[in-house]
Amino acid sequence: MNALTVTGLSKSFGGVKAIQDLSFDVHAGTVHAIIGPNGAGKTTLINLVTGIYTPDAGTVELFGQDVGGCAPEGLAKLGLSRTFQNLQVCMNMSAVDNVMIGAHLSLASGLLLGMLRLPSLRRADAACRERALELMEFVGVAQYAGSQASQLPYGALKRLEIARALAASPRLLLMDEPAAGLNHTETAEIELLIRRIAESGTTVVLVEHDMKLIMGVSDRILVLHYGRRLALGTTEEVRNHPEVISAYLGATA
Ligand SMILES: Nc1ncnc2c1ncn2[C@@H]1O[C@H](COP(=O)(O)OP(=O)(O)OP(=O)(O)O)[C@@H](O)[C@H]1O
Ligand SMILES: [Mg+2]
Repeated sequence: MNALTVTGLSKSFGGVKAIQDLSFDVHAGTVHAIIGPNGAGKTTLINLVTGIYTPDAGTVELFGQDVGGCAPEGLAKLGLSRTFQNLQVCMNMSAVDNVMIGAHLSLASGLLLGMLRLPSLRRADAACRERALELMEFVGVAQYAGSQASQLPYGALKRLEIARALAASPRLLLMDEPAAGLNHTETAEIELLIRRIAESGTTVVLVEHDMKLIMGVSDRILVLHYGRRLALGTTEEVRNHPEVISAYLGATA
């Protein structure tokens, strides 16, 4: 079963073809990396899959269901969740409230109902907080539960975003550079966390530049180059792919 099937996807910004006629699939239950040089189209692809951008052409299927035209909130209800390349944390809220926002995105009860303060909703709120605390424990930031988000170190904020994404109980989690700006030790911890997320049954799509992390944790890798698919395969296949080698050597030369 595919968690994600992308077929003939294209997106341009003015004259820039950010994604060009891209097709690939992500097997359910795996960690699937998406790599490529800066500007290759990785974040654009995530924004297309999560309904933030509308494709110029092509289709996106989530667990076999065509989700073209679905808004991000609708996709959250279908089990899609993400983290952001640039931190998207509400700094003036507590850390645990930030995680709870993630759960509310996938809950049926809207804000208006929440304001009515019904007993059933208060119970749901308490359960939601409990779950948020568990997730903070799971990602390793439990000690910051009561803290204002602005007081957390950068590495903890990256983890907090992961906890928020998990609060929606996703079937598919898209992570855009979870290790960006982290040191070696912190990156190794993120690798372990990704593995634990995958073991819990959530399919992970991982956009990253850190090759050690990618090679350590991925089942398959999609390589993007100027918005096109350069390669798709296991870590071994991609590592030995002549065009991947020359594209990366070209990018660093
Ligand atoms: N909203 C936008 N408006 C105009 N151009 C955009 C927009 N988003 C992306 N682009 C362009 O599309 C191309 C792909 O950008 P994208 O951010 O998807 O790359 P990326 O692979 O995520 O790069 P990085 O590794 O630096 O994060 C780039 O040329 C970028 O300038
Ligand atoms: Mg990006």
